[in-house]
Amino acid sequence: MRASAPGKIILFGEHAVVYGQPAIAVPVNEVHADVSISPSARNGIWMKAPAVGLSGELEALPPSQPVAQLIRTVLAEWNIQSPPNLEILIESTVPVAAGMGSGAAVSVALIRALAGSLGHSANDEEVNRLAFEAERLHHATPSGIDNTVITYGRAVYYMKGQPLAPLKVARPITLVIGDTGVGASTKEAVTDVRRQRDAEPAKWDVLFAQAGDIARSARENLASGEWQKLGPLMNQNHALLVQMTVSSPELDRLVQAARDAGALGAKMSGGGRGGNMIALVSGSAARVADALSNSGARRVITTTVPATR
Ligand code: PMV
Repeated sequence: MRASAPGKIILFGEHAVVYGQPAIAVPVNEVHADVSISPSARNGIWMKAPAVGLSGELEALPPSQPVAQLIRTVLAEWNIQSPPNLEILIESTVPVAAGMGSGAAVSVALIRALAGSLGHSANDEEVNRLAFEAERLHHATPSGIDNTVITYGRAVYYMKGQPLAPLKVARPITLVIGDTGVGASTKEAVTDVRRQRDAEPAKWDVLFAQAGDIARSARENLASGEWQKLGPLMNQNHALLVQMTVSSPELDRLVQAARDAGALGAKMSGGGRGGNMIALVSGSAARVADALSNSGARRVITTTVPATR
């Protein structure tokens, strides 16, 4: 049994989304987590995730190990007291600690592969709910955007605690994603933002509200096909994220390099302080991709967000 889940990138509204503002995120199919599960000849549930050096039997792993914890949660939810002997292999090309949803991608692929192996039919809503439980182990207060965009595998307009609103994309858009190569903890960034916000709520709530207005305008522009207007909105959102103290010199450098190379707009994406930035391009992406590589990006991915109905 095999299951895959894509990475993701946030187009608008990170951090503000934790405080109830809307955000827009899209799947990135160029990177993915893959989980394969087969029957085992040895007793127990054996896990292997070579990329993160994880190897061992479920009972022998520390109780706080996130993958082990997710498997236990899933078995308890599905009332499976004596699971069969299994070999679980987890592989992923989604960069870790980079704002591309690596944790949520592994969770979604793992939940689906477990469902298939254990004969449990899990619909998207159930996969999403369980993946959110796993996110809670990683982040202090996840908004739920990562598990949602990755579970449904399509562009989402997301507001915490609200039913999923379909996001209309009238014309495809092309994004270039540049990785600073600097690993950064979303949990730390979210915790630090909360500390600052609690000290000066009025100031921060204005920043969050402005980010929310940008996400709302972006939704309209995506729906009407006026995608060029997204560029300036991305630049404005980046300026707000700088004010929220979650950008970094490396992110700012790549954002500037993309703009100088002709991108319509660029911003950091995700928890920040490292990880990835995104640029919106019209026509050929090669010039912006080259500029990002020449400015120190460790990895550059070009992805297209397809039109939806
Ligand atoms: O760093 P990422 O890609 O997991 O994105 C985090 C997005 C935040 O808005 C900062 C946190 C959240 O839970 O939405």
